[in-house]
Amino acid sequence: MSVKITETILRDAHQSLLATRMRTRDMLEVVEQLDQVGYFSLEMWGGATFDSCIRYLNEDPWQRLRDIKKEMKNTYAQMLLRGQNLVGYRHYPDDVVEKFVTKSYQNGIDIFRIFDAVNDIRNMEFPIKVAKGLGAHVQGTVCYTISPVHTVEKYVELAKQLEELECDSICIKDMAGLLSPNNATRIISAMKKEISIPISLHCHCTSGMAPMSYMAACGAGIDILDTALSPLAWGTSQPPTESVVAALQGTPYDTGLDLNAFEEVVTYFKDLKEKYRGILDPISEQIDTHVLIYQIPGGMLSNLVSQLKEQNALDKYDAVLSEMPRVREELGFPPLVTPTSQIVGTQAVLNVLMGERYKVIPKEVKDYVRGLYGRSPAPISPEIIGKVIGNEEPIHCRPADLLKPEYEKRKKEAEEIGIADSEENILTYVLYPAIAPKFLKGEMEEEALAVVAPAVQQDYTVPTHFKVEVDDEIYEVKVEPLGGKVSVSEASPKKPSAESIRGAVSCSMQGMVLSLKVKVEDTVTEGDTVAVIEAMKMENSVNAPHSGTVREIFVSEGDTVSPGDIIMSIE
Ligand code: CO
Repeated sequence: MSVKITETILRDAHQSLLATRMRTRDMLEVVEQLDQVGYFSLEMWGGATFDSCIRYLNEDPWQRLRDIKKEMKNTYAQMLLRGQNLVGYRHYPDDVVEKFVTKSYQNGIDIFRIFDAVNDIRNMEFPIKVAKGLGAHVQGTVCYTISPVHTVEKYVELAKQLEELECDSICIKDMAGLLSPNNATRIISAMKKEISIPISLHCHCTSGMAPMSYMAACGAGIDILDTALSPLAWGTSQPPTESVVAALQGTPYDTGLDLNAFEEVVTYFKDLKEKYRGILDPISEQIDTHVLIYQIPGGMLSNLVSQLKEQNALDKYDAVLSEMPRVREELGFPPLVTPTSQIVGTQAVLNVLMGERYKVIPKEVKDYVRGLYGRSPAPISPEIIGKVIGNEEPIHCRPADLLKPEYEKRKKEAEEIGIADSEENILTYVLYPAIAPKFLKGEMEEEALAVVAPAVQQDYTVPTHFKVEVDDEIYEVKVEPLGGKVSVSEASPKKPSAESIRGAVSCSMQGMVLSLKVKVEDTVTEGDTVAVIEAMKMENSVNAPHSGTVREIFVSEGDTVSPGDIIMSIE
């Protein structure tokens, strides 16, 4: 039985290794050739690509989808959809889910891979129903993780439920690279006995086991394997396509793909990788056996390293790594995948950085404990519930049942701002209300390739001399710090120092100013929330360290801030 291949180079591979920064124009150069290879599907949309397009690349994700799809004549266009979270980080009401899935289908998606971070089927039901209604192929997904409650029986049960919802195939999603060959055999064989639809396996190489698990999966009857072309394979990405194809040649699992068909595309991506060298994090290219103990997915690990680095706390890396499984257990063993990876990761970082566990709790962690992300795989202890949300009673229904329709309200807002040109634009706004207006009004600039600070740099000296590529022309640019206000576009903003400002309020995390809760001359009381910082995709409030009057504000909404930056002064 021949095995089919899903190529991830245009989505997961660069999300894992290049911080999701691959540009549409770099994809379009090669789509036609990729389409000739003979893949089953090409994963090219969804996951973090939507966010990255509007946040960093000044690119319309919908346009990307349409442009790529135009070149794809033989291969299915596949996207990753985070269940009721779509391509965002919170649950959206059903009217938004219906609109988004419909527009994704109409703009070109053939296969929807739909997962939920806590494997709560209730969070997948509605998007599955909508996509099925449109005639799309739906791949119901089971997130793989290791815990006392994640048994083979549990995974088989989930797969059966997804088949009952009329999914066309099942994906076993091993985002952390934790699946051993033995467990691959056990789970896939057990599923094969109970379900009749094809099964796909999605592994990351993080721990080094993925190629062996793929071979074991073949023996157990896997139908589809996810791979990435070798220049962007290994490490926190997928096993290399050419190697998997070669390894299966002449076996009953032969993919039927011709190794010569890869020559051109591999050369292309080898060169492209050089262009993106500045953002390639060497750590994410390595095998990290830490994941076998800490069960942290690759993307999260590189995120953690850069977050700690930005906060001058890289010495806390080991402490955070040990804190993570503890927090995960306390939160009922959620699989670590967006957004639960951020929820567990951020809480673990805060527990270590603040020197006291659960002293600072982001809104998302509270919402998770409230049940707003769905049912945790294991129950959360009353002690932790009390610590996080006090006497509040968690919910037990499907989280989206509590959400009011939102699309029409947001549409009106978008019309008022003047960004409601299309339903696609309105959806972009619904999903990312904080950053979409700037993007849709054309006020964003593309993040220059070279200015992206490498996540790992030995002594973190900031370069001031860059080669910047604009429309294939190389310009040499020198950057000088401007001083004063913190602004997004500066490579090395010079911020006011704590010593020079009286009553300075500084921020403790690297992130983006989501909202300012006060104005100059406002009176505040100690403990009042004066600003909300989005760090690691979580909302964290900055509280007034003392009472007084707001004298000066040094940042604007949308600015990026680093730990120690002075946000405002309160005297
Ligand atoms: Co993945």
